Amino acid sequence: MQDQVYRVPKVELHSHLEGTIKPSLAQAIAKRNAVSLDKNLFLANGSYAWSDFPSFLTAYDNVSSCLRSGKDYADITYEYLKDCAKDNVVYAETFISPDHAAECGISYDDMISGITNGINDAERDFGIIGRIIVTCVRHLGPKQGFNVVQTMVQNPHPYVVGFGMGGDENAYTLEEFAEVYKIAEKAGYSCTVHAGEICGPESVWDAINYLPVSRIGHGVNCINDEKLMNKLVEQNIHLEICPGSNLSLSIFSDWDTHPLPSIMEKGISISLNSDDPPFFNTTVGQEYYDSAKHFNLDIEKLKQISLMAMEASFADSEIKSRLLEEIQKFKS
Ligand code: ADE
Ligand code: ZN
Repeated sequence: MQDQVYRVPKVELHSHLEGTIKPSLAQAIAKRNAVSLDKNLFLANGSYAWSDFPSFLTAYDNVSSCLRSGKDYADITYEYLKDCAKDNVVYAETFISPDHAAECGISYDDMISGITNGINDAERDFGIIGRIIVTCVRHLGPKQGFNVVQTMVQNPHPYVVGFGMGGDENAYTLEEFAEVYKIAEKAGYSCTVHAGEICGPESVWDAINYLPVSRIGHGVNCINDEKLMNKLVEQNIHLEICPGSNLSLSIFSDWDTHPLPSIMEKGISISLNSDDPPFFNTTVGQEYYDSAKHFNLDIEKLKQISLMAMEASFADSEIKSRLLEEIQKFKS
């Protein structure tokens, strides 16, 4: 079974680049940059220490603090895509946060050119295609979001294919970010937003009512709102689902209570994603494997998930049609 799942071509739409840094890599980068990482960041066994959503966000900020240069971004991008390629991921979009780079004194240009080098090297070495979604941080507020989106549209790059937002879903309202998203939309960027992860269905309603999004990060808390689920189908809004992250963050207590099967049954377009792999002890391949096992998904279903993901990706039409064809050709 593991072998069969491995062979399915996979697509990742929801990972946070800074959240893909493994503890060993964070320590190596911190060492070469002479940065001392917060000593509370690691458990005795070397994994990241956090206990709930707020402490996870703090740990995430602390990991990011090891970065100092474009080369660091190149290395973390290459390592992340290398791991994805090991799981037979053919296409990966990753969220990047210019606010975290700025906090480390790294310019937008240096960050983008470093990530671009990592993407190019990974494509050359493993054949995987990587693309970038620029994100702002919700709890830093709409003014800062405005700065991020302006920087993105004033410095276009062919690998930057979309705009999004992560961070604390309880901070500010999505309505307050409407103008920020409008700038991205007007400049031709596809959009996504974290909603319905920590907060309930009202958060997903706000996303579709106020923001020009074709995808929602998580969105799993749409589950008790039949009208909302119908709306997601009707408007073809894709949910970037991260089951392992949801369980680690105790959004749901176990696999039996995770709503993925009901969401799929409803006909909502979904993908399976790792979110922040080392924090949640996962990878995209692990998400496919665990979902197959716990939700009884056969190989054909996993292939359909990859097709839905590729269809919902922000890739240009040439890459999209080529990879859709490649996934379609896969025979179990
Ligand atoms: N940033 C990194 N991971 C996140 C998550 N799961 N939710 C919101 N913001 C994040
Ligand atoms: Zn996320």
